[in-house]
Amino acid sequence: MPLQITILSCNGILAMNNNNSIGIFDSGIGGVSIWKEIHQLLPHEHTIYLADSKHAPYGQKSPEEILELSIKNTELLLEKKCKLIVVACNTATTNAIKHLRANYNIPFIGIEPAIKPAALKSKTKTIGVLATKGTLTSELFHHTSGLYSDNITIIEQVGKGLVELIESGKINSREMDNLLNEYLSPMLEKNIDYLVLGCTHYPFLIDKLTKILPKNITVIDSGKAVATQVKTVLEQQQLLTKNKTHSKNIFYTNTNTTVLSDILDNNCLVSKLDF
Ligand code: DGL
Repeated sequence: MPLQITILSCNGILAMNNNNSIGIFDSGIGGVSIWKEIHQLLPHEHTIYLADSKHAPYGQKSPEEILELSIKNTELLLEKKCKLIVVACNTATTNAIKHLRANYNIPFIGIEPAIKPAALKSKTKTIGVLATKGTLTSELFHHTSGLYSDNITIIEQVGKGLVELIESGKINSREMDNLLNEYLSPMLEKNIDYLVLGCTHYPFLIDKLTKILPKNITVIDSGKAVATQVKTVLEQQQLLTKNKTHSKNIFYTNTNTTVLSDILDNNCLVSKLDF
């Protein structure tokens, strides 16, 4: 167990400690797809993950509600002395990260649909984006998609109902197959060659998607890019951990622990917390 030293500055504010945890939050289990990338790249970093499944889906909520929930999650991670926060949720990033960065003195890393690489690589000049309503209607998403819409047709599709099924452990269900077929058909008709997954829950559907989609369609998400950015920022801020042994990874959920435990391996500790 690494030695944790808490250093208080003279005004009582916690000074940043390299061995403090990286905090990660999402509306539920989706951000685990990001946690996995971060843990693979930075295996010695301690992490604290918040799955706010009680309030999922964020994607159907108003920008004000999404901001309020993002603030609640941020403050809990700050109480737990996290040194950097990953907003592992496209919906929360596109609606709240600007506010979080302006109001809390800690680095934030967010995630947005990977439109840029898809737009630059597309040969059919048509790409699909599957994301939540909250993401697709956000100002940030409009700004990013606007940068590419002169040369590329972007087919946007709200993945209504997908997060609810994933959160209730129904990835392999008939309802899921029906929804995916319904959402992907219009994109296939328009001849997309890239499908951008704009929600951190959707990488858990990758096996299903590769069965439904023709081989010429590439599915991309931003998980690896987020992990790389976390490493870059920790390096820049000289906040990389000094820990050289196994990291401590704590997962909190505010609903039952089963669905979260099922997508993690057995060594991960999942606890229930009211938040
Ligand atoms: N996983 C989240 C995202 O990336 C939010 C899903 C939701 O709660 O609607 O957008």
